[in-house]
Amino acid sequence: MLIDNHGRPITYLRLAVTDRCNLRCFYCMPEEGITFLPKPHLLTFEEMLRMVRMMAELGIKKVRITGGEPFVRKELMSFLRALVAIPGIEKVNITTNGVLTEHLVPELKALGISSINLSLDTLDRERFKEMTRRDELPNVLRTLDALLEHEIDTKINAVVMAGKNDQDILPLVGLSEKMPVSVRFIEEMPFNGSGLNEAAFMSYHKILDIIKEAHPSLAKLKDEASSTSYNYSIANHLGNVGVIAAYSRTFCGTCNRIRVTPTGTLKTCLYDDGVLNIRDLLRSNTDDVEIKEILTKVFTNRHKDGFEAEANRKSEVTESMTTIGG
Ligand code: GTP
Ligand code: 5AD
Ligand code: SF4
Repeated sequence: MLIDNHGRPITYLRLAVTDRCNLRCFYCMPEEGITFLPKPHLLTFEEMLRMVRMMAELGIKKVRITGGEPFVRKELMSFLRALVAIPGIEKVNITTNGVLTEHLVPELKALGISSINLSLDTLDRERFKEMTRRDELPNVLRTLDALLEHEIDTKINAVVMAGKNDQDILPLVGLSEKMPVSVRFIEEMPFNGSGLNEAAFMSYHKILDIIKEAHPSLAKLKDEASSTSYNYSIANHLGNVGVIAAYSRTFCGTCNRIRVTPTGTLKTCLYDDGVLNIRDLLRSNTDDVEIKEILTKVFTNRHKDGFEAEANRKSEVTESMTTIGG
């Protein structure tokens, strides 16, 4: 296993398989969408598989598939079939908006996909339409039912913004009463170079206060060190709730993750501009042994603890989440 220059094991790859999406969440993309990347610029699935094989040999054990929306990329299921078979890859998880996912759930279960994170910011159809600019809530809810029916570990991700969907916090918490899901509320991160929208920003403290007032039994659970969320139980609820302090906290200290964007840019931190273009390397004559040596160098030369906080304050990230994968 690779241990980086700050003593952190690198075991987790977040792989964004596309920048495209069938929703237009207002905090992520403009209404007209972004200029999507031309196909030849994207890593092919064959290239991704070769890359993951090499990374697995270097100690990557978990891969989370993100996007954009992963399921808009054609042949994703064939890719997943090959991905789960790679020796050393113990977990393949997916973050999806659930619009196209319902009918694929049985096959995902059969493939051994152990966990799915479903983005869902509101249970109100009109507000869903406003926030995502698409009328897809019924599809997403059917996906949620299918995930539970097939007993796939499910987390709901809700980005919370004051004046937009703060009234949805308690209805979403309500899902955890009868369903064994983890409902996680996320602070908005100021991406797209827009800086922090102070008026709309909801800190995780504020979110927790709202939940605590309605559910005084809210009690802190013990989290895994690398967990993005602080998790809580509520008496008599089947599931639990969580908050992801994506803006106010730094995740550096226990960060075990690297990221690869759809064009093959490798990021060893959410806030770096990319430390290596793997696509060009894979398309050159470099053999696997040499590529693994290069990967080892970049994995063991990561930013120091605290880099995220500095980048956050300066709101340096000018990319959209859809090209980074979260
Ligand atoms: P697991 O840890 O695999 O369960 O999932 P996750 O919570 O990391 O993944 P998910 O794709 O559901 O992301 C949830 C939120 O956490 C998104 O808003 C991500 O952008 C955010 N997030 C994930 N990793 C980091 C990180 O390193 N730093 C910050 N600030 N946010 C992160
Ligand atoms: N801030 C916080 N979370 C975001 N996501 C997308 N854009 C942002 C943002 N600006 C969330 C999505 C998805 C996860 C990968 O990241 O809702 O659940
Ligand atoms: Fe699509 Fe996710 Fe961005 Fe919404 S937040 S537009 S679902 S990539």
